[in-house]
Amino acid sequence: MSKVTVVGAGNVGATCANVLVTTQVADEVVLIDIKEGLSEGKAMDINQTVNILGLQTRLTGVTNDYEKTANSDVVVITSGIPRKPGMTREELIGVNAGIVKSVTDNVLKYSPNAIIVCVSNPMDTMTYLIHKTSGLPKNRIIGMGGALDSARFKYFLSIALGANPTEVEGIVIGGHGDTTMIPLTRFAAYRGVPATNYLSDEILSTVAADTMVGGATLTKLLGTSAWYAPGAASAQVVAAVLGDQKRLISCSALVEGEYGENDICIGVPCILGKNGIEKIVEFPLNDAEKEKFAASAAAVRKTNAALAGAL
Ligand code: LAC
Repeated sequence: MSKVTVVGAGNVGATCANVLVTTQVADEVVLIDIKEGLSEGKAMDINQTVNILGLQTRLTGVTNDYEKTANSDVVVITSGIPRKPGMTREELIGVNAGIVKSVTDNVLKYSPNAIIVCVSNPMDTMTYLIHKTSGLPKNRIIGMGGALDSARFKYFLSIALGANPTEVEGIVIGGHGDTTMIPLTRFAAYRGVPATNYLSDEILSTVAADTMVGGATLTKLLGTSAWYAPGAASAQVVAAVLGDQKRLISCSALVEGEYGENDICIGVPCILGKNGIEKIVEFPLNDAEKEKFAASAAAVRKTNAALAGAL
């Protein structure tokens, strides 16, 4: 029996729960929120799709009752406020740090062995906060951002290539921020053939730029932060863990020397399996990419420094 808790029944949390139910990744999903009735309502709505779609996953919505989340194998934390048009993810730190800390405490009280997937923004800093305050081993804390950013990268690549999105490879490392993420265009590929064979430097630069502001573009269009891809990317990370898939997915992980960095959580290629982050894979970056990674790490570190004031 596998059990997943999704904390936060806002757009991202509810979408994550919906994808977990429709893909039948877990036997049981609990959606929890502090807002009275919200998670119950979203769960009821989703549950009314299961007979249409022929699904078996059990979904329950609860208001702030963490006892119901007990013994979860994986907990996805989406709590906090989303950004509004014109805001950066980093500006959310003051409000979200306190929320994420208290949610983590509550979750671990009832699911001490859970693997935590952090979605709340600023995602790399919230992932680091969970490390600092929970004392969990580093493999059990996974920041979701790179999975989402890589999905956006592959989307823009598939459009530029005129290709089926499922046949395109691409990975984004670095921070989950408009200026800190690094779409690795040199490693992008179409059916194993480097995308550089098909796309000019100029087009690849546009693809990378569109990826980097992918979240901001949607926030501007929607008036709030996106949810379908963030929810699905979170569910993808859960599926990789529960299914012990050993998939290579970019995630925010605590680095200890990998990519020349220490004591920050930042997007790096990770092998995900039943133990969470089972390995960080070192890609052979060239000097320009190394330089970008170092700058990204410095920016993430700067945001982390604001944690002291936020807690
Ligand atoms: C985004 C938010 C979820 O990138 O960070 O859409």
